[in-house]
Amino acid sequence: MLRVPRTFILSLAARPLLLIWLLTVLIAPGVIAQKIALSVDASKAGAKIDRNIFGQFAEHLGHGVYEGIWVGPDSTIPNTRGIRNDVVAALKALKVPNVRWPGGCFADEYHWRKGIGPADRRAISLNPNWGGVIEPNTFGTNEFLDFIDQIGSEAYISVNVGSGTPQEAADWLEYMTTAQPTTLAKERAANGHPAPYKIAYLGIGNESWDCGGNMTPDYYLDQLKIYSRFVRNFNPAQQDRQPMLKIAVGPGGDGPRWTEWTEAIMKAYQSHTWSWDMSGLSMHNYTVVKWPPSYTSVDFGEAEYAQILKSTLEMEGLVSKYSAIMDKYDPQKKVALVVDEWGGWYAPLPGSNPGFLVQQNSLRDAILAALNLNIFARHADRVRMANIAQMINVLQAMIITDKEKMVLTPTYYAFRMYVPFQDAISVPLAFDSGTYARGETSLPRVDAIAAKDKNGKLWLALTNLDPNSRAEMQVSLQGVQAKSATGETLTAPKVDSVNTFASPNTVAPKPFSAQAQGGKLALNLEPKSLTVVSIEQ
Ligand code: AHR
Repeated sequence: MLRVPRTFILSLAARPLLLIWLLTVLIAPGVIAQKIALSVDASKAGAKIDRNIFGQFAEHLGHGVYEGIWVGPDSTIPNTRGIRNDVVAALKALKVPNVRWPGGCFADEYHWRKGIGPADRRAISLNPNWGGVIEPNTFGTNEFLDFIDQIGSEAYISVNVGSGTPQEAADWLEYMTTAQPTTLAKERAANGHPAPYKIAYLGIGNESWDCGGNMTPDYYLDQLKIYSRFVRNFNPAQQDRQPMLKIAVGPGGDGPRWTEWTEAIMKAYQSHTWSWDMSGLSMHNYTVVKWPPSYTSVDFGEAEYAQILKSTLEMEGLVSKYSAIMDKYDPQKKVALVVDEWGGWYAPLPGSNPGFLVQQNSLRDAILAALNLNIFARHADRVRMANIAQMINVLQAMIITDKEKMVLTPTYYAFRMYVPFQDAISVPLAFDSGTYARGETSLPRVDAIAAKDKNGKLWLALTNLDPNSRAEMQVSLQGVQAKSATGETLTAPKVDSVNTFASPNTVAPKPFSAQAQGGKLALNLEPKSLTVVSIEQ
């Protein structure tokens, strides 16, 4: 909101000055600054920000897997066993904690046996959900788990509840996890992997209330109990170290239908017996404003920027609402809220296959990502896992590829800047966010989180949503003697600035530093920016 000094309005003599002030604000945005006091109490500790909230989602959809990850061993694009080297190197820098695969809606039509064995004998099937294109099945179980290994992540496998059977899913888990010489383990060995794989997370269905089979809560609950009982990690050594976490389908939006669904699953959990269990409840929430997605991912102005950010902040209300329902049935917070699909969903880029969900990724998306990660961090006691949709070439991607070319998106950089927050301990902070308004849309001007990493270093992540004003954060710290702050800041000339193959560094982080004076820090945030710093003592 533009705040006009009252004295200017009242005094006729001041009118020329008022004109100059207005011209400065309107013609040269960014020159004014808003002072915001922020206090951090580093002597106090909150919940751990689970590294799994920085998880990713890779579905067989468009060029997400084929071309994005998999080019095949005979490709001229540099690869290791068919998996692109450039993509692996980029993802390693994100320390991706887990990858959800093979879907999404695709998961409830996926039959794993089609994707194992010699490449030339794999079944060729269809992908009816996503453009009705050919699914060559050349990227299957062994290839996905090789990819997980190459990027140093963990597997979150979504099993087929909609059109599969519990036996099919149990066999898949046995194929992947057993250390005993069963027929399925021998088949795995014949396919090049004698050692059992580790499966850390299991999704039991996807959106079972819709593309996963249009089930009622009661019907899904019956399936959940059966799958939870029989689809096991068959490797006791892995179970001892970390039991495989089983994630049930949860709500997909706001409204009575989702409340009823969440109540039903959590009520059943409350009275579950030894023979079935769940450790997570999924929640899906995309930033769309209204369906079908009509906002564009390129060439938009400040009004759309503000509306999309307003819409993304609805995540806060949803997380609070479903956490409250979960608290009723699970006050000890044993079940995690797993936001395993989130992100901006825009109109498909003109000329692209609408079934491939192709969109660009702008500075707005980096800010959108930071706002959501902050919400998850503030609810770290319940939100212990999340998966942005999706990893490569689909929706709010980290990476965009075209044949041999690859470009890192603004969202990629937001995730890279947030790496220090993985498994860090939240530190309480207080600030008056102020207001940034564009037309009828009003938003907090700034957002921030603080946390200590495992070495005790204090980190701050600060977002200035206002595209017209700098934010001068006056940071006072308790529990640390700050000398300086160093880190990175991410901004760009415009809210819709993007990285392209021709111009890959339009939105890229730059070094940021500030010296403390009298133990206080003045952090000068650029308009429409994201800044992550560590505090040096
Ligand atoms: O991410 C794209 C799709 O959105 C997923 O397949 C589905 O689960 C959701 O509706």
